[in-house]
Amino acid sequence: MNEQREQKFDLIENNSNAVRAVMAAVESTIGPKGLDTMLVDQFGNVVITNDGVTILNMMEVNHPVARMLIHSINAQQEEAGDGTTTAALMAGEMVTHGLEQVSKGVPVAQVLTGLRYGVKEACRLMELEAVLVGSLDTGQLYNIAYVAGREDEAIAKLIMEGAALIGQEKLLDASFRFSQRVRAVEGAGSEVLNGVLVTKERLTRQMPLELEGDIKVMVLDDALEQEELGNGALATESGFQQYLVLKEQFKTNIQKLIDTGVQAVFADRGVDDAAAELLEEAGVLVVARVPHKELVDLAEHCGAKLVKRTSLLKPADELKKQFGSATHIIGNEKLHNIKVLGGGGKAMATILVGATTGEVVGEKERIAKDAAASVQSALQRGLVAGGGAAELAVARQLEQNKNALSGMAVFGADCVIAALKKPFMQIVTNAGFNPLEKLGDVHRAQELQQNNHLSINCDTGRIDDLYIAGIVDPLYVKLHGLKTAGEVAEAILRINIIVKKKEYQQTS
Ligand SMILES: Nc1ncnc2c1ncn2[C@@H]1O[C@H](COP(=O)(O)OP(=O)(O)OP(=O)(O)O)[C@@H](O)[C@H]1O
Ligand SMILES: [Mg+2]
Repeated sequence: MNEQREQKFDLIENNSNAVRAVMAAVESTIGPKGLDTMLVDQFGNVVITNDGVTILNMMEVNHPVARMLIHSINAQQEEAGDGTTTAALMAGEMVTHGLEQVSKGVPVAQVLTGLRYGVKEACRLMELEAVLVGSLDTGQLYNIAYVAGREDEAIAKLIMEGAALIGQEKLLDASFRFSQRVRAVEGAGSEVLNGVLVTKERLTRQMPLELEGDIKVMVLDDALEQEELGNGALATESGFQQYLVLKEQFKTNIQKLIDTGVQAVFADRGVDDAAAELLEEAGVLVVARVPHKELVDLAEHCGAKLVKRTSLLKPADELKKQFGSATHIIGNEKLHNIKVLGGGGKAMATILVGATTGEVVGEKERIAKDAAASVQSALQRGLVAGGGAAELAVARQLEQNKNALSGMAVFGADCVIAALKKPFMQIVTNAGFNPLEKLGDVHRAQELQQNNHLSINCDTGRIDDLYIAGIVDPLYVKLHGLKTAGEVAEAILRINIIVKKKEYQQTS
């Protein structure tokens, strides 16, 4: 019996340490004064980042509980687009506090009851803190982009320019992901394109680099190659004859395609040499092996149908109906890409973020994506005062409301209260202030002035109305962070024992 208890405490300590190690890896990055982390792999490749989820995904992690935590932080990035460090810190705090309560003798079931109540109540209270954003022109949306975009003015402006081009209606559409419209390109300047970027070059140098006017565009979700014959068919006389017929037929079809007046062909896969030659002679721009995602965007933007090569068999009139259009196509030989602008289909802004070196290109893209996701999220669900202000206000109210719980479940709610304080404490620590002292100051100020927007402005170290100062975060990022933290903490607290599974052995 005693041995079992000891084993249990070993497990608690072990899990707790694993979670703390994950927290330690990201805590120094949170907030405006957070520092970057440099990750180096065995080949010496370097990634410099401030992004919680990126660090966690690149870390070498073996402990199953730590892996669970990282897995759930990925969900935060996927769903909410930002706030991964906040979520990781809150989850970690809930787990370590929860395990501490259990080791003191509070039954796990009671901790879980309180934890569940705490997260639900915190989300309800957080929603009450939210301010809705009326329209795209609200200045607070720029502030959201600026804060989520790590105070990069150029990126915040670019994101707002892109948002204006895409329009409010589309941004409010839940199935549209604004952050997916962000691309970072090494060596390029920053700009918002009214169109799409294809990261491939023209097939041959004799093909046009730039086209203007009412350009007819074909988007082929296939190879532009002759139909293949079955294995070994060429070895027989009849097979060879069939091959020649197909070859002739293919050439005729390419000629038919040229006669339609098509000026640009984008293909998913390869393009046959003979076809390329004919198209080149006719002055058609051909781009092969376009990444599928780009091809889909291209088709949508140009209003073209994604077609298979069999559609070449159709009569010219029908073939034409599947084309789309663009007003300007321009290739960049240095950057190996092609811009397709002014498509006849759906408006599609692409936000190009320029970066001078390969090391920073990834980080610029992450920053711009966080900013884009945050702007869209704030437009959809509203925003709250940042710098941990909203969390502290919710923690204060939860402290009172937790009395609704009976018995030891209160200890579970305490885990949520501790977690709500954690982002504030860490942001303030990273800015070089004493977190406990500042916590007390903000607590009193919020209560005295009845203003839940008050917190420490890290730029000055003083208490400020962060809503007025424009330091704001999207509500949904906060809600999702709380839920993610609650779910992963519950899952980890439920683990009573970890058993290593038998390795799978192959039988001969
Ligand atoms: N001047 C400031 N004073 C106080 N807090 C600030 C200030 N500027 C930004 N913040 C706060 O910093 C937090 C964001 O920090 P950060 O972007 O590092 O973490 P995250 O969004 O949780 O994680 P990640 O961006 O890595 O996914 C927000 O809560 C934001 O309100
Ligand atoms: Mg952030």
